[in-house]
Amino acid sequence: MPVYLDNAATSFPKPEVVYRAADEFMRAVGVNAGRGAYKQALEADRIIYETRRNVAKLFNVKDVSRVVFTFNITDSLNLAVKGILNPGDHVITSSMEHNAVWRPLKVLEEERGISITAVHCDVEGNLDPLKVKNALTEKTKLVVLIHASNVTGTVMPIAEVGAIARENNIPFLVDSAQTAGLYPIDVETMNIDLLAFTGHKGLMGPMGTGGLYIREGISIKPLKEGGTGGDSILEHQPDSLPDRYEAGTPNVSGIAGLGRAVKFILDEGVEKIHNKEAALTGYALHKLSGIDGITLYGPKDNINRVGVISLNIMDLNPQKAGHVLDEKYGIMVRAGLHCAPCAHRTIGTIDRGTIRIGLGYFNTQEDIDCLLEAVKDIIKNKDIQ
Ligand SMILES: Cc1ncc(COP(=O)(O)O)c(C=O)c1O
Repeated sequence: MPVYLDNAATSFPKPEVVYRAADEFMRAVGVNAGRGAYKQALEADRIIYETRRNVAKLFNVKDVSRVVFTFNITDSLNLAVKGILNPGDHVITSSMEHNAVWRPLKVLEEERGISITAVHCDVEGNLDPLKVKNALTEKTKLVVLIHASNVTGTVMPIAEVGAIARENNIPFLVDSAQTAGLYPIDVETMNIDLLAFTGHKGLMGPMGTGGLYIREGISIKPLKEGGTGGDSILEHQPDSLPDRYEAGTPNVSGIAGLGRAVKFILDEGVEKIHNKEAALTGYALHKLSGIDGITLYGPKDNINRVGVISLNIMDLNPQKAGHVLDEKYGIMVRAGLHCAPCAHRTIGTIDRGTIRIGLGYFNTQEDIDCLLEAVKDIIKNKDIQ
């Protein structure tokens, strides 16, 4: 039986109800949302609303309309970053960011002359909030931070950094790609102004879904304009949310699946999901650290981290090791830089990258045991050049 350990890239499998919801929508409803007065169109509207409400509940968002849907977190981050930063502005981020943050910022550096401070994190990916405070200038217009690293699993001090941003009246944007659904997120207690999420990872929904929570009072220029179903007489994009940021036909079958996925998470409870993943992570870290020839990166215990574990096996090329793990042992992991070169520079692995294990809610201790046996076998045989 193949073992899937790449849930940090996308969660697989999904809960059965997610497949059914997407399938049911396409077969039984199947019509466009927000664009008709007939019963089926209203049902499509209802499904979207229900998903929005479930997402709002999960993140403790009071005003449901302030959750806008996108097609993934890359979309959401581009919308927030490009819609907020103007020529000459300064932005603070960290040295652990994914390219979904880093590349839009670099484009704005070139095209709008923004300046970027990437606060340096330690070798395990930890960030000192004081460094964010010290980086503030009167030109700082945004603080953007990954919630948990997709390379080391390290969880950032979101509430503390959010408090610093709030005291200084600066919007605080969080990339929750590796935490949403797996780690408790409360936009109120964590001082989050903008929460970007993707539907297909810890939220266990279909690909092509994601969104952005936008706190009231924060102004973001839309990335695109177009039809929203209502307000057709207006020549400009309506000001009201969510329409302002949802031009064009949405991915309704995906959103239907996402709604059920989030309902599944709410029913299970994030706490339970988190505890299961933390137990598996602790087990994997403990066992892996006992194997000679393994180098582990990031926090060495399961406190303040998610189930993303980076490692290397002796001096093997991680791509080759990943290939052998799949070919010979049927174990799927990710290998390389994981779209986060800054993080690899921070932890000292930029020259070859790492093998990354991404644990998910449906993984078991047996899955980890398979990995441990395979890794021991590779080390014993030394048969990869
Ligand atoms: C931390 C982080 N941010 C952003 C992304 C981009 O996610 P998506 O491809 O769903 O937009 C990922 C996924 O690889 C990620 O791990």
